[in-house]
Amino acid sequence: MFTQIAQMAGPDMPRDSFDREINYLRISLTDHCNLRCVYCMPLRGLTFVPGDEVLTAAEIEQVVRAAAKVGFNKIRLTGGEPLLRKDAVEIVDRLHQIKGITDVGMTTNAILLPGLAKPLYDAGLRRINIHVDTLDPVRLKRVMRFGTFEQIWTGIEAAEAAGFAPIKLNSVVVRDYNEEDVVALARLAMDRDWHVRFIELMPLGGGECARLSLSQYVPNPETKKRIETELGPLEEIPPTSPSDESRNFRFKDGSPVAGVVGFISPVSDPYCGNCNRMRLTADGKFHLCLLNDDEVDLKPALRNGGGERAITDLLARAIAQKPTGHRLDEGVSTQRRAMFQIGG
Ligand code: 5AD
Ligand code: SF4
Repeated sequence: MFTQIAQMAGPDMPRDSFDREINYLRISLTDHCNLRCVYCMPLRGLTFVPGDEVLTAAEIEQVVRAAAKVGFNKIRLTGGEPLLRKDAVEIVDRLHQIKGITDVGMTTNAILLPGLAKPLYDAGLRRINIHVDTLDPVRLKRVMRFGTFEQIWTGIEAAEAAGFAPIKLNSVVVRDYNEEDVVALARLAMDRDWHVRFIELMPLGGGECARLSLSQYVPNPETKKRIETELGPLEEIPPTSPSDESRNFRFKDGSPVAGVVGFISPVSDPYCGNCNRMRLTADGKFHLCLLNDDEVDLKPALRNGGGERAITDLLARAIAQKPTGHRLDEGVSTQRRAMFQIGG
């Protein structure tokens, strides 16, 4: 099956049944997190994947070796919070050495970056996205609940000092929590060459976080207008890659630096048609689409000695079954996993 798909795609990149090139694998290293963002993790009633079911660093490496063989070149490590894994630096080191992998990135909440930014950079990590919802310490506590603004800001500074560039900040916009704070966040892109991106809320997992995500949703056109009213007009930067989920802008005038304001709008402006990604959960399942429950379990092949061939076959099956088009506007989404169990 894999050969067939590889042939359809030409020499390098697998395509799915909608002719999308799938070359980007997001790997959730853990479903644990040291924060409890209101739209992502409930305070009570959490259950986690048992430790022995979480893929080891060696197993993750095995999957990525197989993925690289079928044409994947871009990896992002996510969570929960990926840096809670004691072997996060080791995993970066293993993955960035794999032939065919050109790009290893990470999405983190920055709390542990003061001690880890430099080791991660030295291990080969080059792209880092930091999740921070507001620059206001009181409101940050309300939306992200554990941790402090001070900790996150210290982590961001550690990332910059370690050499990560550009620094990318992701902010999830939540009505009645931080929708006014987008202006102060966007202003960062006037003063520094950072990318500040605003993400629309998605209701995942069917629980209290999904309900909050539905009721507190703020469309990105509203966020953009709020920023432009306060800070002046934005002009769009032509996309460099069709699968970039962020529409990027610069301030038209007044900003001497190359900062970027981006909008990730899965609800108001779905990008399913250009989706190039596959997700691997911490417990070894290919999750075919963020907003859908379909999965292909990899662990039996990994643990019963199936070898690389078994993994590439499963990956090919996952790619072939990858659905397209979501129904978020009708409130339909994945029910079995919340965001912290998939990694965004
Ligand atoms: N909707 C949109 N984005 C979310 N994230 C977490 N939960 C949601 C949600 N309900 C984002 C955060 C997180 C990344 C993995 O996904 O920015 O860090
Ligand atoms: Fe943790 Fe990110 Fe979820 Fe917040 S959004 S609870 S930082 S995984």
